[in-house]
Amino acid sequence: MRIKVLGAAAGGGFPQWNCGCPNCRDLRSGALAAKPLTQECVAVSADDERWILLNASPEIRSQIEDCPALHPRGPRHSPIAAIVLTNGDLDHCLGLLSLRESHPLVICATERVRRGFTEGNVLYRTLQRFPGQVTWRTLEPGKEAEVGGLAVEALPAPGKPPIHLEDGGADPGDNVGLLIHDRRSGKRLAYFSAAAAVTPAMRAAFDRADCVFFDGTFWTSDELIALGLGDKRAEQMAHLPVGGKDGSLRTLAGVRAAKRIYIHINNTNPLLRPGSPEREQALAAGWEIAYDGMEVNL
Ligand code: MLT
Ligand code: MN
Ligand code: ZN
Repeated sequence: MRIKVLGAAAGGGFPQWNCGCPNCRDLRSGALAAKPLTQECVAVSADDERWILLNASPEIRSQIEDCPALHPRGPRHSPIAAIVLTNGDLDHCLGLLSLRESHPLVICATERVRRGFTEGNVLYRTLQRFPGQVTWRTLEPGKEAEVGGLAVEALPAPGKPPIHLEDGGADPGDNVGLLIHDRRSGKRLAYFSAAAAVTPAMRAAFDRADCVFFDGTFWTSDELIALGLGDKRAEQMAHLPVGGKDGSLRTLAGVRAAKRIYIHINNTNPLLRPGSPEREQALAAGWEIAYDGMEVNL
């Protein structure tokens, strides 16, 4: 299984257009020896012919252009066999509207995420230009679906609905992780880019996986508050912090997957600062920090 990280950042990217936090400021000035990050999107393939995209970021056009494996192989063609959505947040869905150039799309999502994106959304009409422009495939937790040569199963992860649908209550279909199994090689990927907690089922999946991607949004619970950038704690945004005694580094210590990678990293996160104690701590625990262009071959 081949995995290409097209975008490693959380919503807003790195740097974020309206952010002057130390990380964004120092990246712009050149004081930080780091590269910009686009918003989270990952491509996965079993055969290098058909690719599935995990989420559709607002930067999808440039992400596809920057990845030759995703370029057309004919006058009208795309190796993108399907797009799988893990939740309805705009940093995961907005890119769908950018793929409006009259190309048939297969989109896999929970029923809840499909409805959240399509109902009452006049802009969705741009993906309804001809019959069959979008084929929705329902991700039913616990059921493996064959998608682009890979077996894909959704596992509910503690999360929340997108901000624009928060008044509609919560549902287990709001947020899922993906278990992706290449039956030929036997390799398994567990992809959980947003999670407010680790359930026993998630933990069991991580122990079976060869590669785990996990929510690296915030290092601390009060990261935005401490920087004067917002009033919500990480948990209120349904992101388990990486650091601290209840953080994911401690919670996931002992996970047996050979590759463990943090993704969906917010621009405020000290993990993005080369040499920071936080980054060193994560690396010492065997975790990698995703970056745009990262490749994993399982
Ligand atoms: C999140 O990951 O919490 C969301 O992307 C936040 C947002 O939609 O701005
Ligand atoms: Mn996000
Ligand atoms: Zn910032």
